[in-house]
Amino acid sequence: MKNFMIKISLSLTLLFSIVIYSKTVYGEEISEKNFQVIAHRGDSGNAPEHTMVSYELARRLGADYIEIDLGMTKDGQLIAIHDSTVDRTTDGNGRVNSLTLSQIKELDTGSWFNQQFPNKANPQYIGLKIPTLEEIIDHYKDTINYYIEVKRPEDNPGMADELLQVLNSRHLIENNIPRGKVIIQSSDAESLKYIHSQYPNLPLIQLGSYTNRMDLPEISKYAIGVGPELTTVNKTFIEKAHSNGLIVHCWTVNNQADMEKMIDWGADGIFTNYVGLAVNVKLADRTAPVIPTIYTISNQSTSIMGTAESKSTVYAWVGNKMLGKAVASNEKYSIKISKQKAGALVSVYSVDAAGNKSGSKTGKVVDRTAPVTPTINIISDQSTYIAGKAELNSKVFAWV
Ligand code: G3P
Ligand code: CA
Repeated sequence: MKNFMIKISLSLTLLFSIVIYSKTVYGEEISEKNFQVIAHRGDSGNAPEHTMVSYELARRLGADYIEIDLGMTKDGQLIAIHDSTVDRTTDGNGRVNSLTLSQIKELDTGSWFNQQFPNKANPQYIGLKIPTLEEIIDHYKDTINYYIEVKRPEDNPGMADELLQVLNSRHLIENNIPRGKVIIQSSDAESLKYIHSQYPNLPLIQLGSYTNRMDLPEISKYAIGVGPELTTVNKTFIEKAHSNGLIVHCWTVNNQADMEKMIDWGADGIFTNYVGLAVNVKLADRTAPVIPTIYTISNQSTSIMGTAESKSTVYAWVGNKMLGKAVASNEKYSIKISKQKAGALVSVYSVDAAGNKSGSKTGKVVDRTAPVTPTINIISDQSTYIAGKAELNSKVFAWV
């Protein structure tokens, strides 16, 4: 009976591993080189959102995906617009779904940007028109990757069907199209489940404003990933999503520190208004070791610790002598060398797994063997108490 239970348990473990593995590979096909830069409404930090100018800027700057929010006109046409009304981003007003496409086409969706961002204003933005989804696809065809949001389907019945019809008519969901050419995102789970039932291979992303409301096992039944709001994301959530076979694309990540944090935490991509910055951060060399922490920790040894690319070998030099080396794992390394004097210079350099030197840094030795100034308290009529830090196993004497 015991053997039988062990066999069952091993089979279940194997089955679970296969499910997780195949899901992960599926996600990797989409994210290909891991970190994807998704141009949020185009390069919308520098040009009016959801205009051909904004999309073109994003493409030229190297975005992996162009993000398009969908609105639906009164006469059922899909257009690229974020808000439910045209008030903020055009010279008109009214709800998108109460205006016909020809009424929408009369509006100027560039001038508001010049007024709101005078330091980025450009006369070419004046008079720009809201594009339809068909116009965008007819212009770019399969030369870009599309990341399309089914937005407010409750106000726009039939939006998902209309989207599938447009994609089909442009041959963007056929077997010979690389998986990931089009990703569909939505905060509406029902729309995603419906699309999944029609096209099980079409990659879907479940958007959400709060990570703690995302039921990852449930989402993994119909989507390849999640799109959480940046401020609710932490490393644990990303790891949890990955262990459920889901990739993670965070929105909206607009500064360098957050971009680096997302890369460090293992996110698979970001939505950003600043494509150029994100591409630079993505391509920056992060394999070189950082300035190490170097402590002389005993009379025998000095310890050197830092971060470097996993599987790279980090060498420690003093003067022209290589005194120690270690292979980094989990992006950390630790090398012990013979005791060095306080203030001595130690250099580290790393060689990646392919044998290429990836960078070097130098740091100063800090001596931690000497006891630090102690805390001295009279704690009773009988005794005075002396407490402080010193090298492990060293004897500390008190003199008066
Ligand atoms: O679609 C991801 C992100 O764009 C969600 O926010 O409001 O800009 O569409 P929103
Ligand atoms: Ca969006």
